Amino acid sequence: MSDNNLSSRLYPTRIDIPAEARSQIVVILNKTLAATSDLKTQVKQAHWNVKGTDFYQLHELFDEIAGELEEYVDMFAERVTALGGYAMGTARMAAANSILPEYPTDILAGMEHVTALADRFAPYAKHLREAIDKTDELGDLDTADLYTEVSRTIDKRLWFLDAHLQAAEVTNTENGNGNGNGNGVSATTKTQQTVLAG
Ligand SMILES: [Fe+2]
Repeated sequence: MSDNNLSSRLYPTRIDIPAEARSQIVVILNKTLAATSDLKTQVKQAHWNVKGTDFYQLHELFDEIAGELEEYVDMFAERVTALGGYAMGTARMAAANSILPEYPTDILAGMEHVTALADRFAPYAKHLREAIDKTDELGDLDTADLYTEVSRTIDKRLWFLDAHLQAAEVTNTENGNGNGNGNGVSATTKTQQTVLAG
């Protein structure tokens, strides 16, 4: 059976949400399950491999975040099964179905890991926000509420990651990024300049 069929598979259940809506909701939830599981392992990867002067605080922070994601993996998987669906929870399923890119293997320093994680938390947060609307439209306010709960914490974690990077980005902007002509300014710094200019 293909992954597509597995993702929308439904077992008989007495829950009152129509099967047509549930089959669409469990597909969304299985996509989230894969991304959450993938992100958790990537945060652990950062927890183990980070180096530099900020080692200890980042090592601890990454572990705290990974622990939250582990809880969300369970919550999303169990929402799939509560709706009569089939939870696609193996590492291979997560790797095949995740919306996130693979974690870079050539980074070392603390801020490189923070940047790599922020670059993954941002699309994950976007996915969660879209899922709030989609599951709400499909008439499942409980799943929308689950997404809202997770989304709020993920936005907070994205802030924690971004906060490590923002001072350097603002300083780069104030110094013209060191070259005075704006060449080589990152997309993030350009955004920062727009915000500051506004
Ligand atoms: Fe550890």
